[in-house]
Amino acid sequence: MLGNHIRALIFDLDGVIVDTTRFHFASWVTLAQELGFEIPASLDEELKGLGRLESLQKVLNYRAEITPQEDWQAMASRKNDLYLANISHLSYGDALPGVIEFLEDARANGMLLAIGSGSKNARSILSRLGITGMFNYICDGTDTKRSKPDPEVFQCACSGIGVSPGEAIVFEDAVSGVEAALRCGTRVVGIGKADILTKAELVLTSLEHTNIKEIIQKLPKSA
Ligand code: G6P
Ligand code: MG
Repeated sequence: MLGNHIRALIFDLDGVIVDTTRFHFASWVTLAQELGFEIPASLDEELKGLGRLESLQKVLNYRAEITPQEDWQAMASRKNDLYLANISHLSYGDALPGVIEFLEDARANGMLLAIGSGSKNARSILSRLGITGMFNYICDGTDTKRSKPDPEVFQCACSGIGVSPGEAIVFEDAVSGVEAALRCGTRVVGIGKADILTKAELVLTSLEHTNIKEIIQKLPKSA
């Protein structure tokens, strides 16, 4: 057993396990274009981690005219069709570099593994990557009502694997996801840039060339 009382690792999916965030954003860009407006590139970071409808609302803020609420569902559905077309190439072996090795090593060290993702596509993507069986529990956008930064998805993952939040490390690439993890009470490792993921306890550029033992050693000692 590794130190610091850590028993479980909870992984966000998009941007941590698989390189899908750019396809989410590209689909929002296309949806906006189809509706006759543009969204700024800077919105990409802000949308990461947010649920489909929450993201749509942020996108629609850039539309000059007001969009009636009865149109939201059809627009969200159109974005999802665009997204599914954009990721149609995803298949076995398309996890981000180092991810499989990291997961295998963590399992060999006795860690419980879970997914905590806001995506309703999470299960089908994991299945296409061929890595569903590596996780003890999966909690995604079909299991939860509230989008990150609400902690619901991580609370769901912790109870699903039977650990208390303080025994888990969340791996997140989104500011909203780091916030959700902190509100849940887990430890949190950011995957991305330290100047963006400022609230994470430790930030790594990826899961490549590291392992859970090294990460636990680098995490500040818990209070
Ligand atoms: C993740 C992604 C978001 C996405 C959300 C919902 O949190 O980071 O960009 O909007 O999942 O994804 P879905 O596949 O259900 O539209
Ligand atoms: Mg993410």
